[in-house]
Amino acid sequence: MCGIVGYIGERNAQEVLIKGLRRLEYRGYDSAGIATLDAGKKPKGNISLQVKKCKGKLSTLRSMLEKRPLRGKIGISHVRWATHGIPNTSNAHPHWDCSGKIALVHNGIIENYEQLKEELIRQGHLFRSQTDTEVIVHLIGRYYKGRLEEAVRKALKQVRGAYAIAVISKDEPDTLIGARSGSPLIAGTAQGEGFLASDIPALLDYTNEVFLIDDGQMVVLTRNSVKIIDVQSGEKVRKEKVKIQWDVAQAEKEGYPHFMLKEIHEQPKAIRDTLMGRISRRRDAVILQELAPLRKTLSCVNKIVIISCGTAWHAGLVGKYTIERLCRIPVEVDTSSEFRYRDPIIDKRTLVVAISQSGETADTLAGMREAKDKGAKIISICNVLGSSVTRESQAVLYTHAGPEIAVASTKAYTCQLIVLYLFALYLAQARKTLSGARLKQLIRELERLPHSAEKILKDKKVVLECARRYYKSFGFLYLGRALNFPTALEGALKIKEISYIHAEGYAGGEMKHGPIALINPHLPVVCVAPSSHVHDKMLSNIQEIKARKGIVISVASAGDELVPHHSNHVVYIPKVEEIFSPALTVIPLQLLAYYIAVKRDCDVDQPKNLAKSVTVE
Ligand code: F6R
Repeated sequence: MCGIVGYIGERNAQEVLIKGLRRLEYRGYDSAGIATLDAGKKPKGNISLQVKKCKGKLSTLRSMLEKRPLRGKIGISHVRWATHGIPNTSNAHPHWDCSGKIALVHNGIIENYEQLKEELIRQGHLFRSQTDTEVIVHLIGRYYKGRLEEAVRKALKQVRGAYAIAVISKDEPDTLIGARSGSPLIAGTAQGEGFLASDIPALLDYTNEVFLIDDGQMVVLTRNSVKIIDVQSGEKVRKEKVKIQWDVAQAEKEGYPHFMLKEIHEQPKAIRDTLMGRISRRRDAVILQELAPLRKTLSCVNKIVIISCGTAWHAGLVGKYTIERLCRIPVEVDTSSEFRYRDPIIDKRTLVVAISQSGETADTLAGMREAKDKGAKIISICNVLGSSVTRESQAVLYTHAGPEIAVASTKAYTCQLIVLYLFALYLAQARKTLSGARLKQLIRELERLPHSAEKILKDKKVVLECARRYYKSFGFLYLGRALNFPTALEGALKIKEISYIHAEGYAGGEMKHGPIALINPHLPVVCVAPSSHVHDKMLSNIQEIKARKGIVISVASAGDELVPHHSNHVVYIPKVEEIFSPALTVIPLQLLAYYIAVKRDCDVDQPKNLAKSVTVE
């Protein structure tokens, strides 16, 4: 969990490297660092390796560089999210070898670092940090005999674990090397320039042509060439460039004070983009070309298991209700971290659906591997092109949410729901569990969602009022039933992670089994109560809370006259088919969490202790 950037070209490397890191800050923000190779002012001056690093956010490093900038046209940089060794300056990357000539940045975890470190110390290597990373650069130093490429390859053969690295050496100032195994890495090229980065937005200012480096591969960049090789064999690998369609503006805040607010507002467009091309012209069928290779498997599947983490797990829960209702196939939903260790009962007729925004979540990847070993077929729902999850799936259904930068997931979640709806309708159509007329009706409703989401985003009066009144509350309770039970979980998660207020999400029917004891005149209870087959039941919950003088904030359907009667505050969503309601009811809850976090002066986009992609267990 870190972000890395590498550059070689004719520009000022510091500028490119820092700009790149700004787009990767979501990956880690407890320390930052940069290294460049500087030839000095004379054309043929002595080359020196210059390193600057510090504890804290990228802004601290930027202030350091403003005072004393680094020169050079080649370099590497890093933002860190600590795993081994506390966040401090010596543990910040880049790290360098004993000769002080080779510098390296790393994202991942080296599992056998202790054993390697002991060996290296015995051989006289002097370590300066507590990180696992430092062993890699010492190994490279040990193997260096005049060819950096060879030394990196030899070193990587020794390490076990996950890594994406970028390496430079003072003795080879025209070479930038990257490698990956288990952590994301892309290489980009432009006229006379080469780039490395953990994620696409870091390169978008300079190029949209990238190579997706695979596990076990190394990339050697010079100003005018790219060579990709297999780490084990050393043989060259042929790889096509991929053209990225996102533009830089998409990856920036566009005038919003936070990425999270921008991303909440992008939901109508993101939903539209995710639906695009997946509904027939006559609006009577769902088209998922991506699933064509699995047509036979899908016809004989007898169980679906959805695995995912956090917000994506909540999407999976909505998926369960939807698929079971529309397709009558049993669906289990597990957090990936539980699934991978519970020896799940899976066979060739089980379909596993992995959901992940980043496509790099370590537990989800491990769960997928477990399922594959047991013979299951795997489909993934993912937002990041070419990410690890997509590469390990038999078919991928992409969410087209665009880059999600805020740590708290919003638009990726609603797009995950949209893909799950499409998938359920596709299965229902294939298995003939819905009539043609009903299918058509549902498709039309689905297409109306972006417009309904726009309507919700236009009127924030009630949400703002609730944020103003309750931002100092000690806790929040969220209740929902059936399809909107996951919405309650998601609302509670959002407020927890960005406002640091304790919140519980509960199924309404469970209230009497415990949480009702919490109700008091100071506890805001958010009740997700749109029109549904359990509307009466939610209404009973609301009355029970009112009877105990709790504060009720309800999310109800337009035209509802009963829920407002018993609530202190009501946010309305447009009327919608019950199964699609979670894609709308969640929006006011995202906004509530956002505005409360702002009122509490929290760091909305980068909440403490969290990172955007959890690439370690
Ligand atoms: C919450 C949040 C996390 C992620 C979880 C899975 O707002 O963002 O709970 O949903 O870490 O991440 P992905 O979807 O990238 O696998």
